[in-house]
Amino acid sequence: MSDDLEAGDRVEIKWKGSTFSGTYISRDSRITVVKLQSGYNLSLDNSSISSIQLLSKHVPKGPLKEGPAGKGKPVFILGTGGTIASYVDYETGAVKPARTSQEMLYAQPDLAKIAAIDAEIVMNILSEDMQKGDWLRIAKKIYDKISQGEGVTITHGTDTLSFTSSAISFLIENPKAPVVFTASQRSPDRPSSDAFLNLKGAVKVAQSDVGQVCVVMHSSISDDELSIHSGVRLRKMHSSRRDAFKSINSEPIGTVDKNLEIHWRNYERINSRPMKIYENISERVGLVYFYPGMNEELLHKFADTNDGLIIAGTGLGHVTNRFVPLVKEYVSQDKIIGITTQCLFGSVNLDVYSTGRNLLEAGVIPLHDMLPEVAYTKLSFLLGNFDLDETKRLMTTNIRGEISDRRTE
Ligand code: DGL
Repeated sequence: MSDDLEAGDRVEIKWKGSTFSGTYISRDSRITVVKLQSGYNLSLDNSSISSIQLLSKHVPKGPLKEGPAGKGKPVFILGTGGTIASYVDYETGAVKPARTSQEMLYAQPDLAKIAAIDAEIVMNILSEDMQKGDWLRIAKKIYDKISQGEGVTITHGTDTLSFTSSAISFLIENPKAPVVFTASQRSPDRPSSDAFLNLKGAVKVAQSDVGQVCVVMHSSISDDELSIHSGVRLRKMHSSRRDAFKSINSEPIGTVDKNLEIHWRNYERINSRPMKIYENISERVGLVYFYPGMNEELLHKFADTNDGLIIAGTGLGHVTNRFVPLVKEYVSQDKIIGITTQCLFGSVNLDVYSTGRNLLEAGVIPLHDMLPEVAYTKLSFLLGNFDLDETKRLMTTNIRGEISDRRTE
């Protein structure tokens, strides 16, 4: 019995004295599923199968060939993984991860009506498996494409999308062509999938004049509007809804309507300042969520193994007063300790309560209304590319729209 069967292979199965031929779909420890010519799926218990013979290997039939396909301003799609990177094989009904650009475009033939599309799968991973080195690889691929003036759409898992979009925002300065992330909460085999519209909207935005890294996702649970978020301002706020992504402490920079028309609000256009890519990132930066009962030992672990630490503190930016002497000691060793708020909305303010003032005196850096994950990617970027004094200065300076210039609340 062949162990190398792939969904779509033509097979012949002998089961309890009967012979079935059809399209192999899947197999687990108990059952094998095969699609018969009638279109019905047949589930057979493995213990009664005497043989499975491979008749012919499956060759996916995509409408698009390798290389650019379609009409319109060219857009390059970089696949990194996540739900959006899967496609439905209509012959088998199986949902499979796309492994080639051809497979990635297979499920989305409409894209060819919008743009001349080319694609490359840079990696195919769940976004919780992303490493900082992956951000550098993705940045390099994007940079190579936008240097040729071509807009890029990056497909990504939703879970850590805001980490990657903010990391790329910092690593590429003054992008010369649009850099647009998108993702999906529901896989393309589900009628409620957001994958198609999100990708189409992202491709449209990648044909525009936007000069800041952005993310295109559903605005609401229906298919009527997409939001264009700044890459340094968004958060996944729901584990399953299609409108999970919200801009935090700022409005979306624009929207895309159901006819794929873009409506810009406040956005950065491509400018004439030189584009630059930063090729380093510090692996020695940590991010910790403070909680009542957190002990000193844990703070020691985080601070000892890193050169910089972002703390998501409570309220206006607090941690227990027990940590104040430790923070002071680490700051005297030239470690950077930045504080953000678990509230997400609003800014830290260490001038209001005595705890805040104690932390300020100990040398903590208050990080205004920056999101914790954005502070984390920013500090990793700065420590990888600048000296300590410049890192400290830039940490509290708005460099990519990650800090509001003035907050009234
Ligand atoms: N764990 C998810 C990820 O972020 C998979 C599903 C998705 O695309 O969101 O990769």
